[in-house]
Amino acid sequence: MNQTNLELKVQANNYPSLQLSDRHLCDLELIINGGFNPLNGFMSKNDYDSVIQNMRLNNGSLWPIPITLDVDDKFVSEISKSQKIALRDKEGFVIAVLNIENIWQPDLEFEAQSVFGTRDTKHPGVHYLLNTSNKNYIGGKIERVSSPHHYDYQELRHTPDELKSVFKNKNWDKIIAFQTRNPIHRAHFELTTKAMKELDANLLIHPVVGMTKSGDVDHFTRTRCYEHIMKEYPKSTAFLSLLPLAMRMGGPKEALLHAKVRKNYGCTHLIVGRDHAGPGLDSNNEPFYGPYEAQDILKSYQDELGIEMVPFKFMVFIPKVEKFKAIDDVDQGEEYKTLSGTELRQLLDRGKGIPEWFTFRSVAHELELSNPPLTKRGLTIFFTGLSGSGKSTLANGLVTRFLEEGSRPVTLLDGDIVRTNLSSELGFSKEHRSINIKRIGYVASEITKNGGIAICAPIAPYQEDRLYNRKLISKEGGYIEIFVNTPLEKCEERDSKGLYALAREGKIKEFTGVSDPYEEPKDAEIVVNSSGENPEILVKEIYKKIINMGFIEEDK
Ligand code: PPS
Repeated sequence: MNQTNLELKVQANNYPSLQLSDRHLCDLELIINGGFNPLNGFMSKNDYDSVIQNMRLNNGSLWPIPITLDVDDKFVSEISKSQKIALRDKEGFVIAVLNIENIWQPDLEFEAQSVFGTRDTKHPGVHYLLNTSNKNYIGGKIERVSSPHHYDYQELRHTPDELKSVFKNKNWDKIIAFQTRNPIHRAHFELTTKAMKELDANLLIHPVVGMTKSGDVDHFTRTRCYEHIMKEYPKSTAFLSLLPLAMRMGGPKEALLHAKVRKNYGCTHLIVGRDHAGPGLDSNNEPFYGPYEAQDILKSYQDELGIEMVPFKFMVFIPKVEKFKAIDDVDQGEEYKTLSGTELRQLLDRGKGIPEWFTFRSVAHELELSNPPLTKRGLTIFFTGLSGSGKSTLANGLVTRFLEEGSRPVTLLDGDIVRTNLSSELGFSKEHRSINIKRIGYVASEITKNGGIAICAPIAPYQEDRLYNRKLISKEGGYIEIFVNTPLEKCEERDSKGLYALAREGKIKEFTGVSDPYEEPKDAEIVVNSSGENPEILVKEIYKKIINMGFIEEDK
């Protein structure tokens, strides 16, 4: 399967190239390897229309969610129908050639409504369609050049054919697939074991390692957890394989897709629990789908799909008997325990151990390693405020306090330092300021990811840029925004660099607060005003607040 089609690879060098996104690559891999059988390319307009209207391909076979290739206007202007294009990964390797059948502009709102039942962008699938997807689709058949390259867990990745021959060699004829995008804890272990026993079947742990929901545990940590869990199943009863699927968090429709894919991988059964592929809450804090809607839809299509659903209710722990039970089977007044994802994150944040009843010690250990307590986790402290507001003074003071505390390496990214070392070619237009702030955000996110403390102190006058950084950095660790709300008059009165005077004389253009805007932060974790207060006292106050947020140990 890994062999390269050399002839096509050479020909592909003459075709226009499209660099694929992570999501495209996941979809392409499943098209190529047969996981998305009967798709043999990205959907043509006919198939797309038919899928969003009737949940069926044009030939009538059931298909719940469009698998499409979205491209920007510039690319569309360079191609035409019946042409071939080279689909490349991020390193430029050609993965496939696509024969263009159609190029069209889809109604993405309609697609969102019909596939996900909503246009609410709190739904990750809708958010992707309306905010990330390009506005043009191209459809057509694929010719494989090579399989997407994976450097991680190669021995745990299988094509449908490979997996089917694994099952054949093991003489397994009843195989229950367990779909997951989370670490496997005891409740899942119990229900998969129960399913195996009840159906006298074997188990395929088939976690999604393509794209999942933002905020999920990364697939490296998860796979280490899965490898531990595999040792808990009775010998030769369960098998682990990683699935490069890009999830849409499409709830019931996604459950159909999962069933279709698992059928293609040779499974006979699929476990579907509560809130399968659930997208979280909508803008009114209501769930998008009912908790067992995925089970209902799968029940009605399982015969046609040729794979049987194994429904499971939410499992809870009964301390008295030290066993898990479906929530519906809990007797009135019987004590039971559960632990939500949020509660689990809180335990990790505070460095409290994860209870043994909830997960195996080996899994807990992996999660604790990749999520150290807040006091040991990477952190960005992002000062924002007018020139002369006191950002640099406070940032320097805080650097010293952290150096004294000594738990993590500290890096200062002060406005002037960055302008000299990272952004010397940039000016102060809105566009250049955005580039400058995003560069700071990128560096801070890397520092944070690697467990350090980044203290940033640019003006960062635009809310949009600050939000961009907050989102980027929060994925990697802690993020604290400090708004140094010193009034303009005070900053101007100080005018330590003499820049305000020059700005008033018109000798410096686009000067923040004078001839350029400063959008005040609305969501800063800490707000200080350096007008009247001694900076030493302010630094102490800020430090105290950071302790209270849990990022520094109390007695340090
Ligand atoms: S921004 O908007 O965040 O990119 O600005 P920043 O990189 O923090 O600015 C760094 C210092 O540049 C000086 N300076 C100006 N500031 C604002 N507007 C204009 N037009 C300008 N020209 C030069 C200013 O002294 C900034 O430093 P601080 O430390 O904030 O005083």
